[in-house]
Amino acid sequence: MIVTIDGVAASGKSSVAARVAQELGLPYVSSGLLYRGVARLALREGANPDDEGALLDLLRRRPLTLRPLAEGNEVWCGDEDLTHELHTAEVDAAVSRVALHPGLRAWVNDRLRALPQPFVAEGRDMGTAVFPQAAAKFYLTASPRVRAARRVQERSQDLDEVEAALRERDRRDALQSRPAEDAVMIDTSDLSLDEVVGRVLGTVRA
Ligand code: DC
Repeated sequence: MIVTIDGVAASGKSSVAARVAQELGLPYVSSGLLYRGVARLALREGANPDDEGALLDLLRRRPLTLRPLAEGNEVWCGDEDLTHELHTAEVDAAVSRVALHPGLRAWVNDRLRALPQPFVAEGRDMGTAVFPQAAAKFYLTASPRVRAARRVQERSQDLDEVEAALRERDRRDALQSRPAEDAVMIDTSDLSLDEVVGRVLGTVRA
């Protein structure tokens, strides 16, 4: 059984997926971390995030691995743990450019499909492109202001700047981020984490 939780940036997907997976006794898979890993590697090695060939070449030389651990997914490059470098403003700005390339998306999707199932997968296109056969699908949204306020709590940045950056990412992510036709839509703007998790679990168990 695969459960997919897709949604816009900072809609709470990772927190919800981690909790739902824990309740179901399954691992969770954070697909965005692989895209972030590629962006981080590109920034570090001076590869152009807009050059798909350069990125794929970099990945052949420096392969990335996603470890879907229950206590938090990790991304490794060889024997180096990159996880703590993946949530910076610099990576945020580069990652949606990286995620535009079809060949790079295919590379990520191959890695996700090779992971041992079952699991809860979160991202943008888990219920549409990657696991269309999933048993239960969800799509989380929230207003840009609410999402920016949640990010500011995590990273102490300026609220208006964060909201502007989120709107820009929404625009770039729109191509790959759309709900599956059979996804349950949840607007999390006025819901607590517990309430969202409760709704997801209620639907999965039903
Ligand atoms: O979920 P996140 O914010 O960590 O994702 C980081 C970026 O990766 C996001 O800007 C869009 C991209 N992404 C994607 O295109 N497809 C996915 N399945 C997951 C993430």
